[in-house]
Amino acid sequence: MTTLAVVGAQWGDEGKGKVVDVLAAEADLVARFAGGNNAGHTLVVDGKKIVTHLVPSGCTYPGTRCLLGAGMVIDPEVFAEEIAEIRKHGLLQQDELRVSLDAHVIFPFHRELDGLREDASGAQTIGTTRRGIGPAYEAKVGRRGIRVRDLLRPDRLCDRLERNKQALEPEFARLGRDRVIDVDALAEQAAGWAQWLAPMVCDAGAEVLEFIRAGKSVLFEGAQGALLDVDHGTYPYVTSSSTIAGGACTGLGIGPTMINGVWGITKAYTTRVGAGPFPTKLEGEAGERIRAMGGEYGATTGRPRDCGWLDLPALRLAARRNGLTGLVVTKLDVLARLSTVEICTRYQDDIDPGRDGFDDAVAVYESIPGWGDPTWGERVSKARSLDDLPGPVRAYLDLIAESIEVPITMVSVGADREQTIYLTPAF
Ligand code: IMP
Repeated sequence: MTTLAVVGAQWGDEGKGKVVDVLAAEADLVARFAGGNNAGHTLVVDGKKIVTHLVPSGCTYPGTRCLLGAGMVIDPEVFAEEIAEIRKHGLLQQDELRVSLDAHVIFPFHRELDGLREDASGAQTIGTTRRGIGPAYEAKVGRRGIRVRDLLRPDRLCDRLERNKQALEPEFARLGRDRVIDVDALAEQAAGWAQWLAPMVCDAGAEVLEFIRAGKSVLFEGAQGALLDVDHGTYPYVTSSSTIAGGACTGLGIGPTMINGVWGITKAYTTRVGAGPFPTKLEGEAGERIRAMGGEYGATTGRPRDCGWLDLPALRLAARRNGLTGLVVTKLDVLARLSTVEICTRYQDDIDPGRDGFDDAVAVYESIPGWGDPTWGERVSKARSLDDLPGPVRAYLDLIAESIEVPITMVSVGADREQTIYLTPAF
C-alpha cells in the first residue's frame, strides 16, 4: 500500500493533526484535500506546539512535499502568516509547499460576510468559524469563485471581482454595510499574493500521480469530520466541503482507485463545536469535566467544545460513508481518568442516522465496568503497546472495533508523537 487517506470520523477535532504528523514520518507527500483555515491542527514536536490551519501536517518533516488541493479554500493572508510562523521553527525551508491552481481563494469580503450572517442569524445560527469558508464555497458552486489561477491573470481577476461585487453588495447593504467590495483595492492586494504564491502553484492531480507512479508514499489529509460533510453530515449544521474520503478524489483530481486505504480518526469520546445535533452530549458538570481534562477548546476559535460519550451509531455511519479500513482512537488517556465511562451503542426506536437523520436520535448507553482507578490515567498515557493498557481499556477498544466492524490500527494516549501505539503499518 502506498497511499492512505486519513479522515475525521466524528464532528472534527479528533486529533487528525497529531495522527497525520506521526504517519507523515513515512510519507513522501502529504496532500490536503478540503476545507480551509476553519481547521486547526495542533502538532507537538519536541514539546513545542505548532498549530496549522492550512499547511498540511507533514510540514514538520523537512523535505516532505506538502500539497494544498483544489478542494480547499485558501485565505492568502492567513496562509502567509502561517508559513512565516512555521518557518520560525526552522521548517519549510526546502521548497516543500505546493498549491493547486484550482483551489479557491478566500477574500476579506468572504470573511466579513460570514461574520455578518452569523451575527444576523439569531436562533438559526450554524456557529461557523467566521473564516469566510461558507461564502467562498458558495461562490465556487455559484460559478463566480476566484481560484488561485485567477490571481495570476489580473484581467480575469478584475472581471471575477466585479461579478462578486454585483452578487454580494445587495446582501451587504441589507446587513448594514455599504461598498465592501472595492475591486481596484482588492486587485492590488491580490497582485501581492500572486507574487509569492506563483512559485508554489501546480496541477495537484498531476503532482499526486507523479508521486504514486514513482512508488512513493502519499497521505491524503482530511479536515473536519464525516458528520460535518456537506452531503453526508448533520445538514445544515455542517461545513461547506466534502470531508469524507471521497473528497480526496474530487479535492485533488485523482480517481478512487488511487486510494489504497482509509483510516478514520475518533476520539475515545465525542466533541462538537457550533450548533446542530449531538445525541451523546453531556450537560453540566459531567461535560465540563471531560472538557477540562481533554483541553477541549477550539484550536482555531478558542471556543469551548461540547463534550459527550462515544457515539457508536454515528461512528458506524462514518465508517460506511468513508469505507474505513482502519480506525485510530485518540485521547484514550483522557477517558482513562474518568470514574465512570458510558458508550452509546444504539439510538432508541432503532433510529438509523443514515436513513432517519439525527434529529430524533436518543442515545442508549452501556456502562463499562472497572474504570476509575486514578493510577490508570498515568498507565494509559505511558502505554507503548496494547499489553500495557489495563484490561477494561482494552475491552473498550475491542467493543468499538467489533461494533463498527473496522479494526483499530492505532491508538493515541497523549499529545506527543511517542504517546502512540502502532498496531498496523500505514504503508
Ligand atoms: P465553517 O466551516 O466555518 O463554515 O463552520 C461550519 C460548522 O463546522 C460549524 O459548526 C463549525 O464549528 C464546524 N467546523 C468547521 N471547521 C471545524 C473544525 O476544524 N473542527 C470542528 N468543527 C469545525
